[in-house]
Order: sequence, then structure tokens, then C-alpha cells
Amino acid sequence: MCGIFGIVTQKEQPLGQILTDAAERLTYRGYDSVGAATLSGAKIDLRKDVGRVKDVAAQYHFAEMTGQRGITQLRWATFGEPSQVNSQPHLDSDGDLVGAHNGNVVNNVELRQQFMAEGMTVRSMNDGESCVHAVERYLNRGEDFIQAIRHAYHDLQGDYSFVIGRINDDKLYAFKKGSGLVVGLGEDFTCVSSDLPSLLPLTRKIMRLNDGEIITLAADGVELHSVQNGCLILREPETVTETMNAVQKGGYAHFMLKEIHEQAQVAREVLNMLNGSPDVAAVIEKMKNARNLYFIGCGTSYHACLAGAVYFAQLAGRAVIPVLAPQFAPQYAPTVGAQDVGLFVSQSGETKDVLNALQVAEEKGMTCYGLANVIGSTLTKATVCALPLCCGYEISVPATKTFTNQVVTFLYLAYRLAGRDTAELETIPALMTQTLETVAAPVEALAQKINAWSDLYSLGYGATYAIALEGALKLKEITYAHCEGMLSTEFKHGPLSAVTKGLPIIFSVAPGDVPLIVSGLNEVTCRGAYAVAIGQDDPRLRANASDVIILPDSTPQIAALLAVLPLQLLSYHMSLLRGFDPDFPRNLSKTLTVD
Ligand code: AGP
Repeated sequence: MCGIFGIVTQKEQPLGQILTDAAERLTYRGYDSVGAATLSGAKIDLRKDVGRVKDVAAQYHFAEMTGQRGITQLRWATFGEPSQVNSQPHLDSDGDLVGAHNGNVVNNVELRQQFMAEGMTVRSMNDGESCVHAVERYLNRGEDFIQAIRHAYHDLQGDYSFVIGRINDDKLYAFKKGSGLVVGLGEDFTCVSSDLPSLLPLTRKIMRLNDGEIITLAADGVELHSVQNGCLILREPETVTETMNAVQKGGYAHFMLKEIHEQAQVAREVLNMLNGSPDVAAVIEKMKNARNLYFIGCGTSYHACLAGAVYFAQLAGRAVIPVLAPQFAPQYAPTVGAQDVGLFVSQSGETKDVLNALQVAEEKGMTCYGLANVIGSTLTKATVCALPLCCGYEISVPATKTFTNQVVTFLYLAYRLAGRDTAELETIPALMTQTLETVAAPVEALAQKINAWSDLYSLGYGATYAIALEGALKLKEITYAHCEGMLSTEFKHGPLSAVTKGLPIIFSVAPGDVPLIVSGLNEVTCRGAYAVAIGQDDPRLRANASDVIILPDSTPQIAALLAVLPLQLLSYHMSLLRGFDPDFPRNLSKTLTVD
């Protein structure tokens, strides 16, 4: 994910180090390029390139940059390859505006054509440049800055935030549509950034922006306008007193809970990214023509591979072999070759087991793609092309938002492979929000009810098999209980003998599988188990389960995805009830770089 930062001071002064430090604070978001621009009077100084902040800053002497205003941006490539010209910030046609964005402008391709047809100078493929030209378009028509931004806002589709300045002005302007944007107010400066923690070393007086708001930053204060009607919005700044750690938790008690609640937003971001990504069509084409298709990962990422394999079969009629990464070498490597395609899935992009499998696959000539959250990780560099998960930093050891975005990506790819309209998937973020709201209280009550048990089962079928395994892993990871994830139909082939009165058995149910699950529920309830069904409201589930957690109505594939949310919350609450820290479970580490 990209990050932006802008600062306005009273008079020209050294800004290079301030911009470099701000860029460093945003690096956790993942990036491939960095740029900085300073403005004073009629002069814009713009320096940018592909590379690490410290390397680009050293090579281009950011420390020497002076200005009355400054902008820095970290870019993770979506529109246009990582290159100097595609790096941000960008200039307008005449070089008197400079701006940078964070997010995705999904109609970038059409806009670029319009701008060129209107005679503007378009230098890059990047959608950040489109934001600059969108404002330039209306300034050229004689509008004032706020009017121009209001019109540009409606032309630029997608989720993004943007900061822009022009020569012979003493202000910066920024606006928010979907991506984060926070304003900081200092003694003799104001600033704006993609996130709050990156502002805290500069000031604790802040103002949070909402979507559809434009902020004008001057050295001595800010002014807020509505995009809708251009009217002034009055908002008092707030003073943040929490520690950096608490601020990073965004008001939630734990990173895990925060990350659970970020799932709708990051799902929106990954869908936007996929819609605009030029890589997706090439990946789909390769997959279509592959002899065998492998999805490879470990732990949670492997569970996403399992769900993906079911989606590909159900929606696109394409068989996929999901593989636990360390099993790739002994079980599949002897049979693979150049006709095969592998998608290597990893939140960290550094899991040694996955990298080992990747190395073997590459030696065999397979086409290897990546799906990773940490941009710049070994996996993203070693694969032909790596799709980003767009989740931002996932701090909590138990993966939550990266799992759901892995599953959303697989679902999207399955739709594209099937030639189906992906618009249906745009319901996912709202359904996630609705799910988290409706299941919150019943899941907390369920956690109280079953917390005494240190043996549990989590069962599923079809795509919910992967979800059941993921739920079991979450419960094991942070409650330290033994929870076995299984295919529901396998339970009668042995584990049924373990059932005693009250044993919790959780069934994740997709619509369409209800009759089969009803049999499973009865097999265990008649032997005294406490059977919980997580699924859409259905009288058959209500009649046959001991407890039901209701999901909103959706498609069978989306229903499977939604079922993981109550399981994440259940493990979170049980972890707290047991007095554990869900963010940092014993013996585990976020990134496993060992064999
Ligand atoms: C998930 O909650 C775990 N932390 C773990 O299973 C993890 O998914 C696994 O180690 C793989 O990590 P990766 O996605 O970074 O490759």
C-alpha cells in the first residue's frame, strides 16, 4: 500500500530530512519507490526513484531539499511498473502543480486517454499522475482550487487519498476518498499523512478526515470543505494522548481485534487493486493454459489455497492442486515442468518452507506467481509477478485480514477465469461489516459457554472445509486448546468416538450444504455434543443445532468467506477469557524463516 505525507511551514527552510523521516515511518505499509517534492515561490524541486527510502534519499540528496511546503510518497506499483517516471509525486503538464496519492484510481486508463486528448502532458502510467491532471483540468478552466478538487473528486473513481500543491501559493490541499488521511497541527506548521502514527513524532494535535472532505493546509491552520457542496466544515482538532502503541491499535484493545475489523476496508482495497491491475489478465491467461495448477502455502495461507481450489473448481471448472509447501518437493516436484503454473501464497513473503518450494518449482521450469502482503519480501522479488494483498501491516501473530484478502483474491481470480462479472464481489466489504456487527454478541456469549473445554472440533464441507481448518488453527494458536479442523463427513469415520456430553463441535455451513450438515449435526447431538452451526439463517439449522451463529445472505462462496469472521472472534474472546495475549501467543512468531 502506498503512503503520502505533506507539510506546510511558514517560510522556506530545510525540509528534506523531515520528508525522509516521514517516508521512513510509512515504510511498514510496503513500497517499491519513493519520492519527495518541495515547493517555494515559483520553484518545485522533485526527486524520486525506485528503491529503499534510505538509498533513494542518499542518491538524490533529499537532505539538501529546502522549501516552504513538502510532499513525500511511497509507492507500491499497481498502475505502471516500478520506475522513476511512475514514482510519485507527479507534476502537471506545465510543471506548476505537484501531487501524490495513496490508493487506486480504477478508471486511470480512461482518464489518461482523456487527458492526452485534452492536450495535457501525461508522462507516466501511474494513477497518481491522473489525480494531478484531474485537478489541472479544472484549474485550466479557471476554477479556484477547492472547486477544481471537487470536480476532480467526481472524475477519479476508486478509493484513494491525495495531496497537491502549486507554485506561488503557500498552501497544500488534500482530499480523502476511501484511503486513510489524518491532519496534524503544530506550532508553526500543519501536515497531513496516510496514518496517525506517522504524524505523532511531529505533533499530537490532530484532525481525522472523513471521505468526501477536502483539507486546505496553511502554516497557521487548516480549513475543511465538503466535496458535496463546497461548504466549510467546522471541526475541533483532538489531542492524542495515547502511547504510540495504543494509537497504532486505533482504539482497539488488541491488534488482532483491530485487524479483524479492518477486513471490510482491506477487502475493498484489494478488489480495487485487482480491478485495475494489468497483471491479472496475464496471470489468468497462463492459468487457463496450464497443464496443472498448484496453490502453495503454509498455515493460514495454505487454508486460503484450499478455499481457492474449491472456488476454481466450483466457479471455473478448473482443477487446482492445493499443496502444503514442504510437501511440494517430495510429492509434486518429480512430476512438474514448464507447462505447470504455481501460485505461492504467503502473508510475510519470507516463510522458508514456501521459499524452498518456490526454488524447487523454479528449477523445474514452472511459471511461479506470488500472492503476498509484504511488498519487497523475498517471495515478491523471486516470482514472475506477485499480486499484493493490500492489507497494510498485520502486526498480530494470528493472521486475520491477510487470510480474508487471500480468499477474496482467489474468489476474484476464479470469477475472472470463469468469465463472470466480478461486480458481484463488491458486496463483500459491506457483508463483512454486517457479519461483524451481527455476530459480535452471540459469539462472545458462545465463548463464555464453551471456554471450559480444551478439546474442540471445527468442521466444514466444500469451501467451508478450508474455513473450518482456519478456525481450528486460530483457536489452537491463541487459546492453546486442542481444536481439530476436519471435513465434516470424516467425523463419523473415527472421531465420533470422542464425543462426550457437552463437547463443542462447530460446523461452518455454506447454503446448499445444509442437508448434509444437518446429518452431521444429528450424529453428534444425539451423542450429547454441543453443536454450533455458523451459516445463513435456515430453520433446519435452528432445529438441529444446539446453537446457531447467523451470517447475512450471500452466495455459497461468499458465505464460506464470511464464516471465518465469527471463528476469528471466537478464538479472540476465548484467548482473553483464558488470560492470554492474542497478539503474541507463546512459542510462535509472525514470520517463520526456518526449515
Ligand atoms: C497464521 O495465523 C499463522 N501465524 C501461520 O500459520 C502462518 O499463516 C504461516 O506461518 C504462514 O505464514 P505466511 O503466510 O507469512 O507464509
